[in-house]
Amino acid sequence: MNTDEPRIPRHIAIVMDGNGRWAERRHRPRSFGHRAGQKAVRQAIEFCLRQKVQALTLFAFSSENWKRPPTEVRALMELFLKALDKEVDELHQHGVRIAFTGELSAFESPLRERMEKAMRTTADNQALALNIAVNYGGRWDIAQAARKLAEAAARGELDPSSIDETTLGQHTCLANLPPPDLFIRTGGEHRISNFLLWQLAYAELYFTDTLWPDVDQACLAEALEDFSRRERRFGLTGAQIAKAAPAGS
Ligand code: FPP
Repeated sequence: MNTDEPRIPRHIAIVMDGNGRWAERRHRPRSFGHRAGQKAVRQAIEFCLRQKVQALTLFAFSSENWKRPPTEVRALMELFLKALDKEVDELHQHGVRIAFTGELSAFESPLRERMEKAMRTTADNQALALNIAVNYGGRWDIAQAARKLAEAAARGELDPSSIDETTLGQHTCLANLPPPDLFIRTGGEHRISNFLLWQLAYAELYFTDTLWPDVDQACLAEALEDFSRRERRFGLTGAQIAKAAPAGS
């Protein structure tokens, strides 16, 4: 690999934070910020397609977000519904495979049906795997994987002593994709907030003060630039990594 070229992460995971503050600074309702955030979602998808990133996972609605004021939750549900009606055809044309990740049974049927339809329509696309985490929590994800294994063991299909990190990992969400190489959180907070707890084990973490609606291609390019300068060691020493890398890489 040419060291002048930025390394491209295979999978980027983003906590899109700051919509509410962006709106409040403009004396507008928080839902205005979420609508503006949709434009940044489009920017992120275009960026990943252009950079040939394999997978993009966006945290759109956490299991804790149901506790927000009902007007905000309703506005977000309407926004998701409208976005699905408006964007899926174009995403499909661009070869984007859409998946919704989380406990989908909690959503009302018109929204759930559209989510399922979008997943069916785009299932064979290969240009970019776009995962939208909705009603998702990292602890929920690990618990549901453990439950599936326990059920298989109870049916006598699995020896409990054979359960290890690989078997558990195979039952967590996004197991069909490489784990995120790069985690981005916008909006100035430095936390993971129960997002992809299992999958982020070796991700590089990148935080920016930019509020999500202000995120554009330049902002994402900066994150990639920063990522390309990181030395990823996966528990090894720097010397071991240097020895393992072929000369000139
Ligand atoms: C966090 O900002 C953002 C959310 C909980 C919602 C994210 C939704 C979008 C970006 C809308 C479009 C998404 C799709 C997939 C169509 P916040 O409200 O917590 O902001 P704050 O920290 O400033 O209050």
